[in-house]
Amino acid sequence: MSHRKLHIGMSLAPTWLSGDGWRRQDSRVEDLLDSDFYVDVARRAEAAHLDFVFRPDTLFLSAAALENGPGFTSMDPTVLLAALSRETSHIGLLSTVSTSFFPPYIVARQIQSLNWLSKGRTGWNIVTALDGNDNFGIETMPSAEERYARAAEFTQIVRHLWQSFPADSIVCDRTGGRYADSRRVQPIDHRGPFFNVKGPLTLPGYDRAPLPLIQAGASPAGRDFAASVADAVFASAPDMQAAIDLRRDLRARAETHGRSADDILVLPGLSLYLAQTRRQAEELFAETHQRTARVKALANLKAMTGLEVTDWPDDRPVTLADLPPLPSQPRSRTHLDLLLRAIERDTPRLGELLKRPELIGSAHWQVIGTVDDAFDTITAWSEADAIDGFVTLPGGSVDCLHRSINELIPRLAQAGHFRKAYGSDTFYGHLKEK
Ligand SMILES: Cc1cc2nc3c(=O)[nH]c(=O)nc-3n(C[C@H](O)[C@H](O)[C@H](O)COP(=O)(O)O)c2cc1C
Repeated sequence: MSHRKLHIGMSLAPTWLSGDGWRRQDSRVEDLLDSDFYVDVARRAEAAHLDFVFRPDTLFLSAAALENGPGFTSMDPTVLLAALSRETSHIGLLSTVSTSFFPPYIVARQIQSLNWLSKGRTGWNIVTALDGNDNFGIETMPSAEERYARAAEFTQIVRHLWQSFPADSIVCDRTGGRYADSRRVQPIDHRGPFFNVKGPLTLPGYDRAPLPLIQAGASPAGRDFAASVADAVFASAPDMQAAIDLRRDLRARAETHGRSADDILVLPGLSLYLAQTRRQAEELFAETHQRTARVKALANLKAMTGLEVTDWPDDRPVTLADLPPLPSQPRSRTHLDLLLRAIERDTPRLGELLKRPELIGSAHWQVIGTVDDAFDTITAWSEADAIDGFVTLPGGSVDCLHRSINELIPRLAQAGHFRKAYGSDTFYGHLKEK
């Protein structure tokens, strides 16, 4: 196919340890807080010429979930990526920072610091977060509208701070004794509904390439925000039509913001359970999830829709009419809408519904099969203009992680769907490659 090349990222959240994956002998779960664990993954991803490695993040911990696995145990993503910046040379480093809790000055400074350390390989995944307010003295989680209004102001401040100290204001004239042209280093004097920030930032903006902004969250408010600022969107798209609709909508919205449709890339998460045969892949998926999936799916169904189904038989169909009145402020409008869409379209039996990625995962696109199966599905989605690329989320085992990087990606490159070598050494450069 003569289609454009895909943009591919790789999760550094060890998705291959989820469910019971961590219990395998070779999982290295004891090394979860050892930087070498992540250096190994990042170097493999770089050897496959991926656009970026990516660290999602949350700022809360469910202690109860630790009984069954490491769950959301995590280091600060920007600090972790700083350790990787010296161990890699080309791959993009995408950190996640919520706009709901930190002050923008701190975030502008941390992300720009990582950008200097990595020589222009840093990106910021902008999230408005799902939870964690209790850890920041905020009584209830603000509504989605308020969070996105705050995110828009926050992002504008961060961008202005990055411009407040231009790198070329430093003249470094040893003879004349002049370090910088101070007139070009200006306060931003921002006063807004959520923040007052004077500026300038303590360090210059890295000037070799812009710093990519990625956004995750796909309600109408989330899409509009993404369309106004994001270079790429990390999306949940459990089926091809959901991805086609999302991509079409985001591209149209980008144009209403005066941007080009091609300025915004849609990169769904792709959960992969890969093995030598389809049957082994299905076993891998079943082994990984059998202990916890049902309990988790039942709890998620109740939390998202209020539906209590513990006494229902597995073959009972679920329809929209079965659902109690839905919450007006769902925790994530995106995930709720995807689930409702699946119920309306498929009228699934309860047993099938409880296996949906919206309930046991994060509503991501999923391939359970061989490398060939994954290759065929990715090619089909790309040819249908459903995606610009994807974020690889290997599941179940280290073997699946290695198969994804060492077999699937080279296969895509061989077929002309992905680069065979890096054409640039900045994150922005990778995203702009056609
Ligand atoms: C694919 C996807 C990935 C997300 N990743 C994160 C994350 O790593 N950390 C976080 O705090 N929130 C994350 N979120 C939550 C969003 O930032 C947002 O708060 C939430 O989805 C509600 O907004 P929405 O209704 O527009 O989707 C993610 C959401 C989606 C859809």
